Amino acid sequence: MDGSIGQPVIRRDAAIKASGTARYASDFPHEGTAYAALAISRIARGHITRIDTIEADSVPGVQLVLTHRSLNATLNGETFVMKGGHMQSSFMPLSSDRVHYAGQIVALVIADTQEAAEQAARAVAIDYAAEHASAAMDDPDRIEVPMDAKSIDVGDAEAAFAAAPVTVDATYLTPAQHHNPIELYATSAVWQDGKLRVHVPSQWVVGTQAGLAKVFGIPMQDVHVESPFIGGGFGSKATILPHTVLVALAAQRLGRPVKLVVPREAMFTVGSFRPATRSRVRLAAERDGTLTAVMHDDTGQSATVDHVAFPATEVTARMYASPNIRMRAALVPTDVNTPGFQRAPAEAPGFFGFESAVDELAVALGMDPIALRLKNEPARDPVKGLPWSSRSLVQCYRRGAELFGWSRRTPEVGSMTAPDGSLIGWGCATATYPSAMCAAAARVRLAADGSCVVSCAAHDLGTGAYTVLGQVAADVLGVPDERVRVHLGDSTLPSGPMAGGSVTTGSAGSAVHMAALAVRDRLLQVAAGTTDTSGFTLAGGHVVGPDGSGRPVTTVLGSMPGGVIEETAEWKPGAMEATQMRKGLAGGIAFSGPVTETHASFSFGAQFAEVRVDPLLRTVRLSRMVGVFACGRIINPRTARSNLAGGMVWGASFALLEESRVDRKRAHFANTDLAGYHFSSSADIGEVVVETVDEEDTVVNAIGAKAAGEIGIVGMPAAIANAVYHATGIRVRKTPILVEDLLP
Ligand code: MOS
Repeated sequence: MDGSIGQPVIRRDAAIKASGTARYASDFPHEGTAYAALAISRIARGHITRIDTIEADSVPGVQLVLTHRSLNATLNGETFVMKGGHMQSSFMPLSSDRVHYAGQIVALVIADTQEAAEQAARAVAIDYAAEHASAAMDDPDRIEVPMDAKSIDVGDAEAAFAAAPVTVDATYLTPAQHHNPIELYATSAVWQDGKLRVHVPSQWVVGTQAGLAKVFGIPMQDVHVESPFIGGGFGSKATILPHTVLVALAAQRLGRPVKLVVPREAMFTVGSFRPATRSRVRLAAERDGTLTAVMHDDTGQSATVDHVAFPATEVTARMYASPNIRMRAALVPTDVNTPGFQRAPAEAPGFFGFESAVDELAVALGMDPIALRLKNEPARDPVKGLPWSSRSLVQCYRRGAELFGWSRRTPEVGSMTAPDGSLIGWGCATATYPSAMCAAAARVRLAADGSCVVSCAAHDLGTGAYTVLGQVAADVLGVPDERVRVHLGDSTLPSGPMAGGSVTTGSAGSAVHMAALAVRDRLLQVAAGTTDTSGFTLAGGHVVGPDGSGRPVTTVLGSMPGGVIEETAEWKPGAMEATQMRKGLAGGIAFSGPVTETHASFSFGAQFAEVRVDPLLRTVRLSRMVGVFACGRIINPRTARSNLAGGMVWGASFALLEESRVDRKRAHFANTDLAGYHFSSSADIGEVVVETVDEEDTVVNAIGAKAAGEIGIVGMPAAIANAVYHATGIRVRKTPILVEDLLP
């Protein structure tokens, strides 16, 4: 039997996506659907003094105009995801006359046609009393709130820093960014016999089901959430966005299906975003490069309505062996919508500063930046002294350096030039991502016709989950991949975790593995005619007995009632308590790791960039990226490569293009469309080389798969900034790196 795990199986959803037949949340027609449109706030802070819907109500076809006056319902039965609930924010729009941020939903209009809804939404007349507002964390009136619970202290870093012969002390900035998935937020809701059915692009159908049940005070089984395909999520679709609740409420009031597609402009404010960050990094070393102190003060932009930030300090603390570590986190409330998860929420911004600082230290030491990193490679987790479940960063650097040709680098600034006169810069940086795991359930069904069905309420964000979860079952059962069907993204399936924190393959994959093993055991028992299956094996589509004789699996199954074997399994990470497992399977947040009582579990990577800087125009072109990663066992090298390369492309955008610009006077995000919000197109990306190293991790889960979803972005911004320094001698400590930052 050829194992399916490790094969570059082509994505199961490729053909239907490419042909346009895959259906997304807004593609499910319901008879008699009414259409919704939003009115959003034009001020950033204050209150509504007058809201007049007479004109809106009189637009032909208008069915309902919901404002804070007409809503007349309390929708606060569910809380913010970071407080144990499922909502993107603690704040529910239309709950009062208060405006907390620009672009806040101030009215929802439902009409017979989309056009009428939009016309009426524009006709809602609103007067505001505006107050001073600030949407940027460095505005002078903003106050920093320490997050003391996040502090980490090992040894005495301040003293070691003061005593060290070589130090770096620098501050790095990253801006607010928005996910901008191609598929807009959309919700379609319909009630029937007191039961709610919702189509919404979701990275967490079970959590959405649990949260909506709570909001509407109905049993969880009376809510059905479907999200078979997602046109990009990146964290933005992980929680319940407030408009989904409003749409479901409107559908309930009208007694007919309601559908909302959020326009691009409103995408910037009705969901979450990646908040701006400021990282002060202090590193101290002996002259031979031995680190003696590592300090990182990570401050994140937050909202006034929710104090939340995503410091990277838990992760940066674990990168290097240092006897002295000091980590601090803080947040700065601003008048914006609640920030949230965006691909590698903590790590991508935090590592820009942290890994830039490591490069600065290498320059200060006159040392090769890879040699500096390898010299300080920690044998154990430097915070708790725990062993790694696996850590192959050294192998990543060795192979990455070889692929990139690092030995041909001349370290002096500006010493490498291209035939066209452009300055060549080579830089590198380390990437990492926590390998946390969640509980998951899965069902596997094997039929006498040789087909296999895998079901789990997990999600395929375009990551390949449909394909890899099928491969795990195919591998155990010896079924050809094309005979496996996979059902995901539906809350009626066995519970799956949020597609967040890069947990899907390891967690849902382990549940599928467990269910498939149970099916195999049953099959062998049937063939053996007893529960003692010793000597029986599954090979080449046959059950082979102790005497070497084989019977086709289909024949064995044919003797079963219904000709099928079906098993459901519930898997939990080894270190997770049973109560946490139950909570997770019921749609709650329950992560195990990345640091448990016994191990620290992270994925690692070494990333390289080559830039070409025009000596006169100061434009930066990215000619080459190399990334080598260690993410445990790779179930499918094709989909893994695709994820990792996609992350690197995003990292390139992060370094050179992406910024949600703030109009400080009006406290608005200013570039709220895809013309103004820049990210890489294919022409911006040169060669992309991705490899993974062979790595076995027997601790993290049964299939040995660590996180591979988000790590690709993490090291790229610093690698590019470090390459820009190498080319120009200019150390840009903020992203995006723009022409004006590189003027000599
Ligand atoms: Mo990811 S930002 O954890 O969806």
